[in-house]
Amino acid sequence: MQGRILVVDDAEINREILRDMLEDDYIVDTAEDGEEALLRLWEYPEETVAILLDLQMPKMDGFAVIAAMKGYGWLKKIPVLVISSESAVDIENHCFSLGVSDFIHKPFESSIVKNRIRNTVELFVCKKQLEQKVEKQSEKLKEQSQIIEMQAEKLRKAEPFNNLMMQYHCAIMEIETKLKILNEEFSREYKRNPFESIKSRLKTPESIYEKLIRKGHSISVENIEEHLADVAGVRVICSFPDDIYRLAKLLIRQDDIILLKEKDYIRNPKSNGYRSLHLIISIPIFLSHEKKYRKVEVQFRTIAMDFWASLEHKLKYKKNVKDAEEIVEQLKICADSIETLDYQMQEIRNKIDRHNK
Ligand code: GTP
Ligand code: MG
Repeated sequence: MQGRILVVDDAEINREILRDMLEDDYIVDTAEDGEEALLRLWEYPEETVAILLDLQMPKMDGFAVIAAMKGYGWLKKIPVLVISSESAVDIENHCFSLGVSDFIHKPFESSIVKNRIRNTVELFVCKKQLEQKVEKQSEKLKEQSQIIEMQAEKLRKAEPFNNLMMQYHCAIMEIETKLKILNEEFSREYKRNPFESIKSRLKTPESIYEKLIRKGHSISVENIEEHLADVAGVRVICSFPDDIYRLAKLLIRQDDIILLKEKDYIRNPKSNGYRSLHLIISIPIFLSHEKKYRKVEVQFRTIAMDFWASLEHKLKYKKNVKDAEEIVEQLKICADSIETLDYQMQEIRNKIDRHNK
């Protein structure tokens, strides 16, 4: 479809010159004052790809047309190029502040006029396409989150799912108990606790659904059991790095625990600076009629690493954060300082311990 251009000027000679220049490339409509311009726009609000607008005209001048277009929301859709013999900078700036796209000065130079219009029209077409894309994508996202919500609701009502979640909850309790027992024993023997606190969580139905779909699996109890290792999550917060390895070793050594996977992000930190020890373990739970092995993801980190990770997590889940690149850099620097600090604190503790022996 060929676009329409509306030329608005009270001088017939200007309208004709512009029509001659543009009629090979566009359908050219004309209006001799602001009122007529608005009538033309009402006729073709979608097809009009640009308006060439004189400022000084009888009945209704160019500024009034711009104001009316703004009111109807057209200024965002149709670019306005002011045609004027005015060359005062403050008038031009005022027009730009009102939302005008460009200026074309009289007398008209054919190639300049054509190029300016083409550039402006192309820019608006791109902008429109981009806006439509963004709109479509946000609609899609909205639909997806509605689907996730619906599916999660279905899961919440399903008996086999709730039964499985109960088992994961039991697995968390088993791990917590094992850790607490080690803590008891340690505090008697060494007069200190190997960990500061434990935080546990069950993955939400929303998050379970989303992760299974992301990994390309359908939603079923079997797929949750087989493909998700972090439905049950336990985070152990220690004071010192060597406590992490000591505790992890003691836990894995227990003969009812099977270590399925170990990711040591302390010895091999992530590029963003993330440091933690992750274990995926399988632990039996004893139900009234059966014994079931369930997977638990156990994360070990120091207090300082945990402090860092929760701040960094906020950045990950916040969209459009200003200065994001700078924040990533600052976080990396902090992570490295935390490592130094953790080992220095450990060194101090060792000296104190040696002194007390
Ligand atoms: P997920 O699909 O996110 O579970 O990752 P994964 O299966 O590749 O496992 P990984 O061991 O790398 O991460 C498991 C969990 O550790 C994540 O779900 C987070 O809770 C945490 N984690 C991993 N990497 C980072 C990180 O860079 N920053 C923070 N804040 N947490 C992390
Ligand atoms: Mg996870």
